[in-house]
Amino acid sequence: PILTSVKKLSESSQVTSIPSTYTYPVNPQDKSVLIDYDSKIPIVDFSLLTSGTPEQRSKAISDLGKACEDWGFFLVINHGVPEELMKAVMDGSLRFFYLSEEEKHEYQGKHVLDPIRCGTSFNASVDKVLFWRDFLKVFVYPEFHFPDKPAGFSQLSSEYCKRTREVTRELLKGISLSLGLEADYLDTALNVKSEGLQVFIANLYPPCPQPELALGMPPHSDHGLLTLLIQNGINGLQVQHNGKWVNVNAIPNSFLVNTGDHLEIFSNGKYRSNIHRAALNNKGTRISIAVPTGPSLDVVVTPASKLVENGNHPPAYVGMKYKDYLELQQSSMLDGKAVLDRV
Ligand code: SIN
Ligand code: FE2
Repeated sequence: PILTSVKKLSESSQVTSIPSTYTYPVNPQDKSVLIDYDSKIPIVDFSLLTSGTPEQRSKAISDLGKACEDWGFFLVINHGVPEELMKAVMDGSLRFFYLSEEEKHEYQGKHVLDPIRCGTSFNASVDKVLFWRDFLKVFVYPEFHFPDKPAGFSQLSSEYCKRTREVTRELLKGISLSLGLEADYLDTALNVKSEGLQVFIANLYPPCPQPELALGMPPHSDHGLLTLLIQNGINGLQVQHNGKWVNVNAIPNSFLVNTGDHLEIFSNGKYRSNIHRAALNNKGTRISIAVPTGPSLDVVVTPASKLVENGNHPPAYVGMKYKDYLELQQSSMLDGKAVLDRV
């Protein structure tokens, strides 16, 4: 059965309440722990990481490591990816969601590992409640796939994915150094350069008439190493920090970056993946573009041997092939770190 897109649902005349299938069971404590102290969210200045003086570089590397350890989340500024490109990709995504339901249906996909999939909620065949979100999810590296509609979207996105890949690999170098490893250690061990999986995910969150009752995405951690996210100027991402939910008020044109489960495994638990969720509003349509990068699908990821070899830090995770992990995560109900807990 094909579920109606949230876009269509939100446009149907006079929706003043959400269907009960979208009501998310709320932990009564959730509201009380929601706090805004975004001024404390770590900020990483990319230009210092890549072209600062040696002192600036080593400070940027240690700031990056601290952000991974304390938050698993940070904002990246001065990254060099043109603002116009970021805007154009978000505009292309909006045009994609405005294709007719029939046209989008062509890209629906059948299996969770199909390289092009679009739909609504997260995994509607297993979701117990539905999420107020439409999405397009495409595997863009090592092989570039993309919908051929709307005109120009594929080309723009190809350029955007290339640029975000470069930024991600630089951040991974800094992270590798911050763990006391050589700059290329992580990249090499997980075969990121030649085969690291990169995914392009466009999310559409139409205005929700009862934003406090539903979610765009439930609390979860991402499967890969790092995810770079941009948004159309409308906030909604909330990240968990010290057991509290923090609203992310993004700096315009920055990347919102979170660490994923495979960085947690690789770092043997030092850099724990961040749990986050997407909250809704009743005023404007929010668009976000998430670009996660992970290991090669064929690599069995285990804690870095250099981090466990002296015996003081026995491996806390058994290895699992990234492809199997991804398939499990994508076909399960999104639920915190339920998948990582099984590794
Ligand atoms: C995600 O977690 O993948 C999306 C979060 C967002 O849209 O802010
Ligand atoms: Fe996520």
